[in-house]
Amino acid sequence: MTTPLYCAEAARRDYAQRLAERFQLPLLSRRPTDGYWLELGAERLELVTTGKHGAVYAEFVEGAARHRREQGGGRGQPVAKAIGLKGAKEIPSVVDATALGRDSFVLASLGCHVTLVERSPVAAALLFDALDRASSHTDTADIAARMVLVHANAIDWLATLAEADKPDVVLVDPMFPDTDKKSAAAKKDMQAFQQVIGDDLDTLALLSAALAAARRRVVVKRPRLGPAIAGIAPSAVLDGKSTRFDLYSIKALNSSPAA
Ligand SMILES: C[S@@+](CC[C@H](N)C(=O)[O-])C[C@H]1O[C@@H](n2cnc3c(N)ncnc32)[C@H](O)[C@@H]1O
Repeated sequence: MTTPLYCAEAARRDYAQRLAERFQLPLLSRRPTDGYWLELGAERLELVTTGKHGAVYAEFVEGAARHRREQGGGRGQPVAKAIGLKGAKEIPSVVDATALGRDSFVLASLGCHVTLVERSPVAAALLFDALDRASSHTDTADIAARMVLVHANAIDWLATLAEADKPDVVLVDPMFPDTDKKSAAAKKDMQAFQQVIGDDLDTLALLSAALAAARRRVVVKRPRLGPAIAGIAPSAVLDGKSTRFDLYSIKALNSSPAA
């Protein structure tokens, strides 16, 4: 199902047109009366629906992003530890292969260059708009400059990388049908995205593409008690309160004896 775009701000029609073309979103001349749609207002692009809950958008400047930027715990944050940033001599380059954006922003704010690969046109358009706003704000412009958005399926995109362009780390955090429903209910944004984007059912192919592209490690974010992707045992596990990171070390994989 395609999610359309409605421009509620006459002065932003050109930008709406660019978004529609870039992310292949049908551009509506009237606000829909049901379902989900993207709405461009004076301030930002939002994912909107009738009744159920308020608008959802990507945000790198204010709110939770500001809090994490200012009080977030630096390299001690779980995702930073998971990619090996804590104690690292050199800052690893990262491809976020499932980039709804929050993890990417944390890593970019800690100095990583992050390529955000997102296949959903809705999520990619929201990310594009959030990055656009972050680029023009003094507090976040330098962080946004370390983030590059690619609208593609990461399974295909990772396979096109030349040897010299391969990242140190690939981060994978797919939408799972088995996501903890209680915590999902608490997060209205994830609920909305789950409705519009749906579950990611090709995670084994994504893990394989990630393992073939990463130089040092693949990091898979999972619900704390969820199974590993396709039951493939990681080389190490980092447990958090509600989330777990499964770490696949490329060195360990390459040195393990052939089956
Ligand atoms: C659970 S969300 C990721 C949340 C993200 N880690 C964050 O911190 O905001 C999963 C996202 O990955 C995207 N995705 C899943 N498989 C993908 C693939 N093969 N290529 C690109 N994007 C993918 C989905 O469209 C969805 O937006």
